[in-house]
Amino acid sequence: MNLVESKDLMPIEIEVNGQLHHISVEPRRSLADALRHDLATTGVRVGCEHGVCGSCTVLMDGVPVRSCLTLAVQADGQSVRTVESLAEGESLHPIQEAFRQEHGLQCGFCTAGIMLSVSALLEENPDPSDEEIMELLGGHLCRCTGYQQILASVRRAIVEMKS
Ligand code: FES
Ligand code: FES
Repeated sequence: MNLVESKDLMPIEIEVNGQLHHISVEPRRSLADALRHDLATTGVRVGCEHGVCGSCTVLMDGVPVRSCLTLAVQADGQSVRTVESLAEGESLHPIQEAFRQEHGLQCGFCTAGIMLSVSALLEENPDPSDEEIMELLGGHLCRCTGYQQILASVRRAIVEMKS
């Protein structure tokens, strides 16, 4: 028996990485689950599932949000960007390239969320101070890198994106 009766589902319209989707979701379904399981954007990483680690961060209308704490129905009519939106075909985004060059990742679990937060920061402020970068990184848990390589990656991305 299907435990989810169709009357319990709510239709939503959501643009993900420039593509419009119409899906029906339970009102309690998280945006993270809708993105991963209904829309196959598996670049969204789910760690703690309670808003602490930042790995599930996506951009909703350009603003970083924890997709594990955001309901899919809250994204109705909104534009969402995931890490899949960064590269253009075979060409890495300068932020991705900087992380590659500076070894800003090891297991990579935290990386998608960090790169999206960094891209939102640099869009608003193309020349942030180290303090501002560290404040942003404070919202993302990384158990591998010790953060120094991530800071170096963001610094390199800033230089690359200016040139
Ligand atoms: S999985 Fe969303 S903040 Fe950790
Ligand atoms: S690279 Fe492994 S958690 Fe950050």
